[in-house]
Amino acid sequence: MSAVLKGGLVVDQNGERAADVVVDGGRIAAVGPDLSGDVVLDAAGCVVAPGFVDLHTHLRQPGAEEAETIETGSWAAVRGGFSAVVAMPNTSPPIDCAAVVQEVLALGRPGPCDVYASGAITVGRKGERLAPMAEMAALGVRLFTDDGNGVQDAGLMRRAMEYAAGLGVLLAQHCEVDSLAAGGHMHEGEWSSRLGIPGVPAEAEELMVMRDIALSRFTGAPVHFQHLSTRGAIAMVRAARGAGLPITAEAATHHFTLTDEACASYDPVFKVNPPLRPDDDRAAVCDGLADGAVDAIATDHAPHAPEAKDAPFDEAPPGMLGLETALALALTELDLPVAQVVGLLSWRPAAIAGLQGIHGGPIAPGAPANLCVFDPHETWTVDPADSASRSRNNPYAGRRVRGRVRHTIVGGKAVLIDQEMRELRP
Ligand code: DOR
Repeated sequence: MSAVLKGGLVVDQNGERAADVVVDGGRIAAVGPDLSGDVVLDAAGCVVAPGFVDLHTHLRQPGAEEAETIETGSWAAVRGGFSAVVAMPNTSPPIDCAAVVQEVLALGRPGPCDVYASGAITVGRKGERLAPMAEMAALGVRLFTDDGNGVQDAGLMRRAMEYAAGLGVLLAQHCEVDSLAAGGHMHEGEWSSRLGIPGVPAEAEELMVMRDIALSRFTGAPVHFQHLSTRGAIAMVRAARGAGLPITAEAATHHFTLTDEACASYDPVFKVNPPLRPDDDRAAVCDGLADGAVDAIATDHAPHAPEAKDAPFDEAPPGMLGLETALALALTELDLPVAQVVGLLSWRPAAIAGLQGIHGGPIAPGAPANLCVFDPHETWTVDPADSASRSRNNPYAGRRVRGRVRHTIVGGKAVLIDQEMRELRP
């Protein structure tokens, strides 16, 4: 049975054009004017974009199913317009060997979006010895990270880079020097002093960015920097890219929409790692996304169950939800053309994840039908209760935002129609 997305503005890496899009048998069958299909999905006034790709999703399974499961997180993803997510490996047990990769992929397969596993760089994410990256790469893992922690040992990181380059996979770094960050719960600066909360200095992030740029130059291996949050880190990445180094970077939604001042509420919903930074850093993240120093918007969707998060600030775990609000926050807070926002959410992260040709467009006959239809003008108020996630640690409660996902198509199936979750793939 075919479906036609009717009356929208198609936006992909080849530009913008008013066109209908017909989806049939899992693929895009036609793109053009006045097309028809067995089912009509209204796209009038909407953008028809490649499905979004999140480079940074915590799905919590295995091990913390009270916070999220691969299934609930996948539904949150499609509600946010994502057709693919890369699951972070800081699960319990961690994704650090073939068996856990297989488990995550098997749990993701029946769900509404495509779930890709990242693998840990080191065994148990302990930073001591390299994980068996080759056996994970053989199962299709393309991105390796110890996310939640950075790899502290420079010699080990060098070896990981050499190994990864040989396998043709990408290392992604959570940039944080533990010896500077230890004991900190928010950004170290004026607000941490006023609030009496121990801080994490910007230098904890910047030193590791500096080190890994040097190691990339030394080994020739590409590195992807996760959730960059400081002006200095982004400036170093911009310069390294300018010098031709194979560096890519992402920024998390909360780092361009919130600042450390939010911690004045002592509400742990604003505790995240790397921490919310001062407004000057927030502005630098926006600039990095605007000028291309930062390649992609990632959510760092990090669900935590209420019983864990409802704790004093210094005892609560870091992390906040992000999948269902990313598009709207980007459209509302970044002063960028819609096509650029779509690129930051779709084809650019798709390329980093090695998913080009599967996700991220272009929207053309024969391509896999992974699509998102959103109204760039609809305004709405964020309500944490209205979520497919199993958790509620959403820092945007009550915020007015613009831009709403209407339909999400994954592998040709309309899994979200008019914001309603629809159909599980067989
Ligand atoms: O805030 C965070 N939460 N930062 C991380 O690096 C890990 C994540 C989590 O897993 O909760």
